[in-house]
Amino acid sequence: MVDSIYRRYSSLTSKTFMRLVFLGPPGIGKGTQAKMFSKKFDIPHFSTGDILRSEIEQKSSLGLKAESIINSGHLVSDDIMLNIMEKRLQQDDVKTGYILDGFPRTILQAEGLDKINKRLQQRLDAVIALDGDEETTIKRISSRRSCRNCGAITNIHIDSIKEEGKCNHCGGELYQRDDDKPEIIRKRWLVYQNQTEPLINYYRNKSLLLKVSGIGTIKEVTNSILLELE
Ligand code: AP5
Ligand code: MG
Repeated sequence: MVDSIYRRYSSLTSKTFMRLVFLGPPGIGKGTQAKMFSKKFDIPHFSTGDILRSEIEQKSSLGLKAESIINSGHLVSDDIMLNIMEKRLQQDDVKTGYILDGFPRTILQAEGLDKINKRLQQRLDAVIALDGDEETTIKRISSRRSCRNCGAITNIHIDSIKEEGKCNHCGGELYQRDDDKPEIIRKRWLVYQNQTEPLINYYRNKSLLLKVSGIGTIKEVTNSILLELE
């Protein structure tokens, strides 16, 4: 079904938009949409949240530093995030493009990304800002499960799970994130409104902003994003 949506926009290819940012509040669907676009257009996808959670899983020094910050709903420092992205965006697999999900998240990070892109003689093509309300996203996040093995995102109320507690794609263990308690989601929303929402004007002023409603079915949101990109 989703494939037929993409066929409707057959003029779009990975060459049309090579460097995209997905911006938006917690639970609005950044990861869900970014993963689908990455697969469809064969562009690498980075979720800074996933990168940090993998560091926590490995108990690295970064993971140990980030764990309590993430579980309290606050942001990891700009220095740390810029350092991670600076290294990552210099690797060969992202020379022709990338989809960023959850980065940048502050004006300082956005300015840092501009500097990285300038040094690498490249630029962003579009910033997709997904929009929605807090109560809808709390409901969505409460029924989200993530795969420990392949990172696939599942919603236990939307997707039919083939085997209880197992990922439909790879059979890996499904788990609920530690920062997905309603009181922490509300804190993440506040942090989003104070520190990330100003990026909407930042990118509007650079004529890169595409504002899309994140409310509706996953397919409807995909369709709206494709329409805006076209
Ligand atoms: P991060 O992992 O980025 O979390 P987030 O921004 O709060 O967003 P989520 O991942 O919770 O939601 P999403 O928008 O990806 O939604 P999803 O597609 O999963 O960051 C976590 C933490 O890491 C931060 O709080 C911070 O501490 C730290 N961090 C990360 N990046 C950082 C940075 N750059 N700087 C500093 N700190 C940073 O969808 C949610 C659910 O809804 C799923 O179940 C899904 O199936 C379902 N769903 C999706 N779309 C729909 C739809 N249209 N209809 C119905 N259900 C839907
Ligand atoms: Mg996400």
